[in-house]
Amino acid sequence: MSEQAIKSMKLYSRVERVYAQLRDAGIADDGPIPLDVLCRFDQYHYDGVAAVEEGIARLALASHHRALDVGSGLGGPARIIASRAGCEVTALELQPDVHEVAARLTARAGLADLVRHRQGDILEGAPAPGGFDALFAWLVFLHIPERARLYRRCHEALRPGGAMYVEDYFERGTLTDAERGTLADKVYCRDLPRLDELRRDLAGAGFAEVEIEDVTAFWTEHVAERARSWRAGREREAALHGEEVFAGLDDFYSSIAGLFRGGNLGGMRLVARKR
Ligand SMILES: C[S@@+](CC[C@H](N)C(=O)[O-])C[C@H]1O[C@@H](n2cnc3c(N)ncnc32)[C@H](O)[C@@H]1O
Repeated sequence: MSEQAIKSMKLYSRVERVYAQLRDAGIADDGPIPLDVLCRFDQYHYDGVAAVEEGIARLALASHHRALDVGSGLGGPARIIASRAGCEVTALELQPDVHEVAARLTARAGLADLVRHRQGDILEGAPAPGGFDALFAWLVFLHIPERARLYRRCHEALRPGGAMYVEDYFERGTLTDAERGTLADKVYCRDLPRLDELRRDLAGAGFAEVEIEDVTAFWTEHVAERARSWRAGREREAALHGEEVFAGLDDFYSSIAGLFRGGNLGGMRLVARKR
């Protein structure tokens, strides 16, 4: 996968903007960062810390477990997993700049002994295949059209008896050509499974006991509110990040809100186990 092409998605440009947000929240550059402040800015999925806590609970994660967070972004979920469950987490992220900022944030949050950051592509395999009790992925699979290989890699990453928790998009209705275009151009999402395809492909990769929950209604409200509040904070956000970043994210957030409003894009969370 290209690390450059994914930058077409505005959420991923100028990821160092998190430092401006921290400064604005009263955190000195290079100083320690309390996790309760950091987690307001480092979660690149829906419903922030609550969604991570849901994943931890679903997989009954405990301190003796080893977790892999695939597509770990700025490391927000990995740090919450480590701090709540007290377990070691490997945070695997494709984009080098995102990975570097994430590792720096983890060090400043005092969690470098539990969270290990690795830059790489899950399609090339997990850092320690077969060594993980739990695998998490929040809004990552939507970027990866090579689904059979992706699910195989995730299955290989887990030890027998291990489990995977995923939150992601699916094709709920029939996406129009315009919706497909928006997903491709603005979300770097070129293909989505329907739920029956997802079940079939996960079973094909060796996963058993696949449980899927449709969370579309909740996500539709969530992304609408995110778009509204970003626009309402225009003056403040533009002053903090510059007009270009404000406008790029405004377009991104309102495009996602429009896609969910259309009813053809779905959101789901799933648990799948390896025998
Ligand atoms: C929407 S962000 C979510 C980040 C993080 N999971 C979170 O919820 O805060 C998706 C992340 O997946 C990463 N990603 C996409 N494809 C990947 C791949 N093939 N291997 C590893 N990471 C990938 C992207 O670079 C991006 O940082």
